[in-house]
Amino acid sequence: MNANIPVITLDGPSGAGKGTISRIIAKRLGWHYLDSGAIYRALAVETINLGISADDEVSVRTAARELDLRFEFEAQFAVLLSGRDISAGLQSEACGNQASRIAAIASVREVLLQKQRDFRRLPGLVADGRDMGTVVFPDAPFKFFLTASAKVRGERRYKQLKEKGMNVNLDKIIDELLRRDQRDQNRKAAPLVRAEDAIPVDSSRITIDQVVERITNLILAD
Ligand code: DC
Repeated sequence: MNANIPVITLDGPSGAGKGTISRIIAKRLGWHYLDSGAIYRALAVETINLGISADDEVSVRTAARELDLRFEFEAQFAVLLSGRDISAGLQSEACGNQASRIAAIASVREVLLQKQRDFRRLPGLVADGRDMGTVVFPDAPFKFFLTASAKVRGERRYKQLKEKGMNVNLDKIIDELLRRDQRDQNRKAAPLVRAEDAIPVDSSRITIDQVVERITNLILAD
C-alpha cells in the first residue's frame, strides 16, 4: 500500500551506533525516524512499572496492545509513555534486559508489527532495530547491517552512560552486551540476522560521522 514510500533500514547488535547514525541521517534527509528498540524498551518500562514478569506472555501481550506511546523528534528524540517523558530511564541495563526478554515473545512482536509499519510516511523513513530489513520492512530499498566489535560497542555504551552521570562498569557492560546479543541472535521470533540484501558496515575502526557519510553517499548516488 505504501510501497512507494522509501525506507532505510539499519539493523545490528546493541551499541553499534544505529540510533545516533539513524537520527543524523533522518534529520539530514528530513525523513521520519523509527527507533524500534525504544518501543521494546518502553514496553519494558511499562511491564516493570506494572510488576509484570517477562515470562508472563499473556500480560506482556496485553500491555503491548494497550501501550500508549508517542515519539517526539524535534531538537532531541523523546519517548512519551502515557504522556510522560520516559527517555531518561530507557538506556539502563535493567530496561535493556527486560526489553530483550519480552522481544523474544513472538505474539508480542506480532502486536507491535503494525505499530512499527505505521511509521512509514512520506517523504521517507529511517528505521533502526534488529528486524527492520528482514521482517518489518522487507521491501525497503536501502538496507544496512551495522556491526562493531563487542569491545568498541561496550566502550561507546560506557561513555554514553557515564556522560549521563550513571555509575557503570565497562566489563559488566560488555558482558551484558554479549548476553543480549546471544538472546537476540538465537531467539526463534525474528532473530537478529543480516537480511540477504543488506549492506554490511563495520564501524569498529571508523567514526560514526564516517559511517553517516558512507551511508548517505550510497543513498544519494542511487
Ligand atoms: O536497540 P535497543 O538496544 O534499544 O533494543 C532493546 C532490545 O529490544 C534489544 O535487546 C532487542 C529488542 N529489539 C528487537 O527485538 N527488535 C527490534 N527491532 C528492536 C529491538
